[in-house]
Amino acid sequence: MVLDVAESIRTRRSTRSYDSTKRLPREVFEALEQAVLNSPSGSNAQESHFVIVQEPDQIRRVKRFAQGVSGNPAAVAVLCSNRVEALSKGGADTAETLRFVNLGIAAAYILLTAQSLGVSSCPARSFHAKAIQQLLGLPEEVVPELMITLGYADQPPRPKTSKPSREVLSYDRYGKESI
Ligand SMILES: Cc1cc2nc3c(=O)[nH]c(=O)nc-3n(C[C@H](O)[C@H](O)[C@H](O)COP(=O)(O)O)c2cc1C
Repeated sequence: MVLDVAESIRTRRSTRSYDSTKRLPREVFEALEQAVLNSPSGSNAQESHFVIVQEPDQIRRVKRFAQGVSGNPAAVAVLCSNRVEALSKGGADTAETLRFVNLGIAAAYILLTAQSLGVSSCPARSFHAKAIQQLLGLPEEVVPELMITLGYADQPPRPKTSKPSREVLSYDRYGKESI
């Protein structure tokens, strides 16, 4: 069963405990590839790079340098920025800021694509970037910024605590609550 976008948004939660015996089928990797390729970027610069680690020994090595990664995921997507390509393809604003906006959008695409296919996930920013860069053989200008663990949850995630909508959302001007 494939969930639509609204249902994927509603049901996604960060998952930190995975069934380590379950691998991801090929269709999931293909869908993640489509998510990345179709993600928008400022000036269509497409400067980000994504390494999807799915080989079990390589996942073990990644985990050694990633204290923010919990559980035994079936794959870890490593989202990388590229300041040099951002500057040449998109200019100064892309190099300074939009490359992170671009990565954030791609991250959302990956999280929701996974959720739509019944695959759980968790973003993780706590890792040793230099060590991961070396381990993955990334060029110097390709810097890992965020990981997303992926796999089949083996227990229910923590319930979500969301702020009241008036604290995060206004209509027409700051603080105006209703439509
Ligand atoms: C940029 C970013 C970095 C994060 N880094 C970590 C991390 O290193 N380790 C971790 O367990 N969770 C991490 N998270 C997950 C957040 O803790 C989680 O998204 C938040 O508590 C809200 O829960 P939810 O994802 O279930 O809605 C990160 C999330 C984001 C967006």
